[in-house]
Amino acid sequence: MAYVIAVLNQKGGAGKTTVATNLATAYARRGRRVLLADSDPQGTARNWRSAGPNSGDHGKAFPDVVGADTAEAVQTVTGPEVAAAFDVVVIDGPPGVSKGGPGEVTVAALKAADLVLIPVRPSGADLWATSDLAELVRARQDATGTPDAAFVVMQADSRTNVAKEIGGALEELGLPALDARCGFRVAYTKALGKGLAVEDVKPGGKAAGEIEAILDEIETRFHA
Ligand SMILES: Nc1ncnc2c1ncn2[C@@H]1O[C@H](COP(=O)(O)OP(=O)(O)O)[C@@H](O)[C@H]1O
Ligand SMILES: [Mg+2]
Repeated sequence: MAYVIAVLNQKGGAGKTTVATNLATAYARRGRRVLLADSDPQGTARNWRSAGPNSGDHGKAFPDVVGADTAEAVQTVTGPEVAAAFDVVVIDGPPGVSKGGPGEVTVAALKAADLVLIPVRPSGADLWATSDLAELVRARQDATGTPDAAFVVMQADSRTNVAKEIGGALEELGLPALDARCGFRVAYTKALGKGLAVEDVKPGGKAAGEIEAILDEIETRFHA
């Protein structure tokens, strides 16, 4: 059965596609069969893959990327046929809310997920914007025992202790944060624009190390 990771946050610019593309690629390079399901109608993850090299030329693995921007499509890409063909499905979540709460594609992804990752920038406005989603995740956990869930702090500035302060603010939202975080690094933006992983942009660099740390933490903490 494929392990389903949904990268969700209704707020645009939170870092969903950054996390989803880099995690999916890192899993693929660990030898997993990975499907990256792009549930953003803007198709950023699909554009990312189209801009990238083909795996044969590049010599390094990439995930398969497919569009899944309806609730039904999310169910299909996490359903039994796909689950049998892949080890990991990463869903790159859509922005936007409906009727004041997370939209139906976000809800479908949440229901299909083994693990929900919520990338969030360390600012009050960004945190407030995630409270509906955090509440929805906790309600589902209370009702069904799944999915696991964690915040991923994005664009953390190591020069200030904002990251520390935000730790407490995140706890108030009732979900844990990964110890592994992503700093504010140009490599993330470059990689997204070129259809690459941060590892390709700066091999062995800090951003690549951050992605590896996220993967390691997921594997030891949630998906042993
Ligand atoms: N850790 C980071 N450091 C620097 N830039 C980042 C980082 N994370 C995301 N970005 C940039 O922020 C923008 C929004 O990120 P993106 O992943 O597309 O967000 P979302 O998918 O949630 O809308 C992109 O231009 C991306 O390159
Ligand atoms: Mg996106």
